[in-house]
Amino acid sequence: MKLTEEYWNNCYQSNDTRWDLGKISPPIEAYISQLQDRELSILIPGGGNSHEAEHLLSKGFKDVFVVDISPFAIANIKSRVPHFPSNQLHNKDFFKLNGTFDLIIEQTFFCAIDKNLRSSYAKKMAELLNSEGKLVGLLFSTPLNEDHPPYGGTIKEYIGYFEPYFNIEIMDPCYNSIEPRSGREVWIKMIKKGK
Ligand SMILES: C[S@@+](CC[C@H](N)C(=O)[O-])C[C@H]1O[C@@H](n2cnc3c(N)ncnc32)[C@H](O)[C@@H]1O
Repeated sequence: MKLTEEYWNNCYQSNDTRWDLGKISPPIEAYISQLQDRELSILIPGGGNSHEAEHLLSKGFKDVFVVDISPFAIANIKSRVPHFPSNQLHNKDFFKLNGTFDLIIEQTFFCAIDKNLRSSYAKKMAELLNSEGKLVGLLFSTPLNEDHPPYGGTIKEYIGYFEPYFNIEIMDPCYNSIEPRSGREVWIKMIKKGK
């Protein structure tokens, strides 16, 4: 299955956005609530309707960036949050994004890309992080669909992708998932490895 810009645009245009919680994911909200440094530059890849980015902005973080391949998704956040700096909303393929960030927040993006791209995802994440930058968020921890997103996996499999590039501080079952995802998510916190 080709997971193209057209595929994702169609999902948004037909309102087939079952992944969208309509609000920030509670584990990510809890994580953000203990961040002190409002100067952090933060990327939300595959942000979709970008409730995480909107939340960060409302909490006083200014260097918040979204990248999404779907122009429709980017248009959604532009119209929902008109004061979001438009030069921080990138309609682009994540794998072609340039720049570096202190923190990247994962929320149903990893499960949305082709499974063959998982190693490239880990490598690209490391490239997009500043020295000792962090990749934090949620991954599904059970097998899901084989023929269309969301694609699941296991902790054992994930460690293989990330270990070459990250010190994995946390990759544990998530205790505060939303009810429909309870027992099916892991919370991740990884620090980019030094040279
Ligand atoms: C399952 S949705 C999740 C959206 C959002 N994170 C959420 O939880 O509501 C996956 C998102 O990733 C975007 N996406 C898929 N492949 C991408 C790529 N290569 N680069 C950037 N965005 C991509 C899609 O357009 C879609 O918005």
